[in-house]
Order: sequence, then C-alpha cells, then structure tokens
Amino acid sequence: MALKLAIIGIGYIGSEIIKNLYKFQNKIELKAVFDIEKDKMEKVIDLHPNVRLMSFITDFDDCDIIVESATQQVVETVFDKVIQTGKIFLPMSVGAFISYDNLYSNYTQLEESQKKLIKLPSGAIGGFDCIDALNLVGIQKAELTTRKPLKVFVNHKYVKDHDLKLSENEKTLIFKGNAKKAAQIFPRSINVAARLALSTLGPKKTAVSIYSEPSINKNIHEIEISSDVGEYKFSFQNNPSPINPRTSWLAALSILEVLGKIS
Ligand SMILES: NC(=O)c1ccc[n+]([C@@H]2O[C@H](COP(=O)([O-])OP(=O)(O)OC[C@H]3O[C@@H](n4cnc5c(N)ncnc54)[C@H](O)[C@@H]3O)[C@@H](O)[C@H]2O)c1
Repeated sequence: MALKLAIIGIGYIGSEIIKNLYKFQNKIELKAVFDIEKDKMEKVIDLHPNVRLMSFITDFDDCDIIVESATQQVVETVFDKVIQTGKIFLPMSVGAFISYDNLYSNYTQLEESQKKLIKLPSGAIGGFDCIDALNLVGIQKAELTTRKPLKVFVNHKYVKDHDLKLSENEKTLIFKGNAKKAAQIFPRSINVAARLALSTLGPKKTAVSIYSEPSINKNIHEIEISSDVGEYKFSFQNNPSPINPRTSWLAALSILEVLGKIS
C-alpha cells in the first residue's frame, strides 16, 4: 500500500515534490497539504482533487510521512506531534534544530528508533556518507565557508545593523562564528550550517564563515573536516533553482532523493 504524504509549505520545494511524485511509482501518495497562503493549497486541490486541505498545521494523523518545506518555526511547532505519533519526518528547514535550544535537546535526546524516523535531507551540501563514517572514530574540526552573491546581502538586516560595507569588487566577510549563531542570523539561507553541525560537532563547535562575493552567481559551500582518519575538503557550487533563485536547485533534489529511498 502507498505511504500517505502530508506537505506543510507549498512554496518552491513543496511544489517540486508534488510535481515529481509520479517518479515514485505510486509508492507515495499525496494525502494532505497545508500552507498559510490558502490559494497555494487550493491550486494543489485543483490539480489533485483527492488531496485534503489540512485544517490546522498538525492535522496529519492519517498520513505516514510529513514533509516540512515552510520555515524553521514550523519545524518547532510540529516536532512533538510528529514524534508522539511515530511519523516519518522530512524537515527542510533544518536550521530549526540548532536555532531553538529546546528542539536541539529534544532531537539529540531521542531514542535511536525515533531518530531513525527523522530523515534529514542533505540539502544544498553532501558528503554525509563520509562524515558518518568518520563519526565512528571522531571528528576534531568541522568548518563551513559559504560564499554568496553580493545581492543576497544588500538590505540584509544584519549587514545594516552591523554597518558592514559591502565591496562591489572584492569578497567581504559578513559573519564568522559558530553554526548556532549563523542559523539564527540567516534563518532562510544557512540550513547547510545546521545540517553540517548536526552530523559533526554540534551547533557551538561547528565553525562558519559567510562571505559576500560580487563576482559569483552561485551559492558556494566549502567544508573542511579533520579527523584522526584524515583531512577532508568538500566543495559545492550550487546553481540557483531556475524556478526560485533564492533556493539552490540541489536542495529540492535532496528531499526527492530521501523520498525515493523511503518509497
Ligand atoms: N536544508 C537546506 O539545505 C535547504 C535549502 C533550501 C531551502 N531550505 C528551507 O526550506 C524551506 C522551504 O524553502 P522554499 O524554497 O520552498 O521556500 P518558499 O518560500 O518557496 O516556500 C515556503 C512556503 O511555506 C509557506 N509557509 C510559511 N510559513 C508557514 C507556516 N507557518 N505554515 C505553513 N506554511 C507556511 C509559505 O507560504 C510558502 O508557500 C525554507 O525554510 C528554506 O530555508 C533548506
């Protein structure tokens, strides 16, 4: 029987999932959707009349898989119910797990059987097969350097509050600190720091630097890991999605990859 899917957040990523569900050959069936913008839900129902509009954000009792593709706050809101009801949970806004202290401690204290039901997509980065193997021995250093186009930072509140001067010709350091602070300051765009932290040294010991770089039109993430096993460097040069330039194309594909493994 097909696994029943609920999607919370029908923006770019939510819509991409719906468009691509046919690839799972009827092993996953879209059952219910929720979005704060009602017209987005209604558009889904127009195309898929058997799908149900959720009446509230945790109205997913009849579903097996819950996808969050909305905001960090939504992850925090639904987490307890997802755990209590034993659903498979695919959160896109993984920054939530390190932005909210209560969520981080609830997540890290889950029993192994519960944790297995939370499938963290690799998002806009990867290499987690290697990282998970290194964890069997231990990781000493985990660093992320993110470079994004200048336009991402123009008018950003943090840039204004800190009176940062953005160069139009050279790379400018915007932020240097740990993953926890990065996820709080850049909630929409630094899920990668959170994803890396959750699989390496945690929110406070995973180092993050963020640069504005006028000459690029991609989001570039470079990861350096040190372990007794060796030294590792990963580089991801992500093209923006042709549909939503604010999101890396790879991020939407990563959640489809997880769904493919479950189906
Ligand atoms: N893990 C990663 O590497 C990664 C990469 C890209 C995006 N993301 C995250 O995934 C999420 C979705 O990204 P997107 O590009 O689809 O964004 P989007 O803005 O296109 O879509 C978000 C949707 O969520 C809806 N929404 C907002 N608040 C809501 C709420 N309280 N309840 C229900 N719906 C709500 C919006 O109306 C919108 O339709 C974002 O949080 C983004 O930061 C993660």
